[in-house]
Amino acid sequence: MGHSRIAGTGAYLPAKALTNQEIEQRIETSDEWIFSRTGIRSRFVADENEQASDLALHASRRAMDAAGVTADDVDLIVLATSTPDLIFPSTACLLQQKLGVTHGAAFDIQAACTGFLYAVSIADKFVASGQCKCALVVGTEVFSRLLDWSDRRTCVLFGDGAGAVILRPSAEPGILSSHLHADGRQSHILEATGYVQDGVLHDHAFLHMDGQAVFKFAVRALEDVCNEALAANGLVGSDLDWLVPHQANVRIIQATANKLGLPADKIVTTLETQGNTSAASVPLALDAAVRDGRIQPGHLVLLEAVGAGMTWGAMLLRW
Ligand code: UT7
Repeated sequence: MGHSRIAGTGAYLPAKALTNQEIEQRIETSDEWIFSRTGIRSRFVADENEQASDLALHASRRAMDAAGVTADDVDLIVLATSTPDLIFPSTACLLQQKLGVTHGAAFDIQAACTGFLYAVSIADKFVASGQCKCALVVGTEVFSRLLDWSDRRTCVLFGDGAGAVILRPSAEPGILSSHLHADGRQSHILEATGYVQDGVLHDHAFLHMDGQAVFKFAVRALEDVCNEALAANGLVGSDLDWLVPHQANVRIIQATANKLGLPADKIVTTLETQGNTSAASVPLALDAAVRDGRIQPGHLVLLEAVGAGMTWGAMLLRW
């Protein structure tokens, strides 16, 4: 078994930003409440003609350019989303067609906000085993479509966007280890229960969340899985150069950082301007920190995420 490493990152955000002030005009909420409880000031909302595969296309092209690879090189696409373009074909197959990739496997992963970590972990196995030489891994979401814009408890939290990485074989380990978990007994605390039967939409089309239950679950699960990832590599929190967390709530991020003993300047956050972009949030934050030069070769980077399922995970990278 060889190793894989991330050879390039890319990101894409829709053109339209929606600020807390604009939401204040529509429902009973305030910028003060939203920012103090979540750390969010603004988020991006896709145009009605833009689908998850369209956002993914832009992010993927940027990751491919950064890695110096073309559509002919890509031999695997693993795409994480909870907001697919269609029931089927998969968004990964639609992306494959848009990119002009004509060989290798392409499939979607559904692990909600943890989806990108699940997807990278799977692609890592393909590349490290030698079965694939150039994997494109994408997290892409149009979560604005799942929101009840009259429900102030949820509509202020989420945004749209896409992030992507290219994984290539490596002599040295880039992905050191991944640690994935799920507990279906907690499925009811964060769900979108709508389903189609006999051509009719049944149950609730919108996202529903017990915010406090998810908050408590997230803080505990993230502490556990971050410690699990560090212990598996004989490391402690102070060894980390960067924490790239899922961007759901700045209070959850700070709680995780505090448990790891990490100062604020080692945490990558995009929450203030992007909100929670679910499966796209970790690759969007990773891309931001790679492109602005914070993450440098040799750095030790910890990714973590938690989401519906409930699912959660962490991954250690040597950049
Ligand atoms: O990515 C998936 C993972 N998701 C998460 O990690 C989200 C986890 N949960 C959270 O981040 C937080 O629980 C929320 C940000 C969703 C809510 O924050 P909270 O501090 O737990 O607030 P709360 O739900 O306890 O609500 C407190 C009050 C309530 O009013 P009453 O009942 O005390 O009168 C809410 O009705 O705040 C009210 N409220 C709002 N007020 C103004 C809830 N949403 C809003 C709002 N604007 N947007």
